[in-house]
Amino acid sequence: MNPFQSIYDEIGEDKIRQLCAYFYQEVQANEALRKLYPKDLQPAENRLFLFLLQVFGGPQTYSELRGHPRLRMRHLEWKIDGKMRNHWLNAMLSAMDQLQLEPEVRELMMGYFIKVANHMINHE
Ligand code: HEM
Repeated sequence: MNPFQSIYDEIGEDKIRQLCAYFYQEVQANEALRKLYPKDLQPAENRLFLFLLQVFGGPQTYSELRGHPRLRMRHLEWKIDGKMRNHWLNAMLSAMDQLQLEPEVRELMMGYFIKVANHMINHE
């Protein structure tokens, strides 16, 4: 079992949902990021929520609905350079700051997001 799979047991579904809501408030407020996302952010928020629920060890609904995540491939349609990665990560870190998280969980989640965000870079 990968360590991220313990996060769901630690914080539960409501906090993961809340994290996604805060994240999308940050997206809404960030011009560079906002341009990439669809007009209606609610379905996008739900996709991220179901994905994180699954990655963090909760129900596997994301894959039932969307199939294999293939995250990097799904992100190829946007030009993601180091700057854009920073916008995304900053939005996620701000969202995390708005949750009350135990330091261990926070470290684990941060490590996960940094790793995956680096992996999404597809442009110099
Ligand atoms: C590094 C910078 C990143 C940028 C600029 C970016 C941007 C986007 C955009 C514009 C979408 C489309 C929104 C939608 O309609 O669903 C999207 C989808 C998504 N992103 Fe990212 N993203 C980044 C990193 C990440 C990371 C680190 C994760 C996971 C930890 C992630 C997870 C997802 C998921 C699960 C979806 C929905 C995929 C689907 O089912 O279609 N993204 N992203």
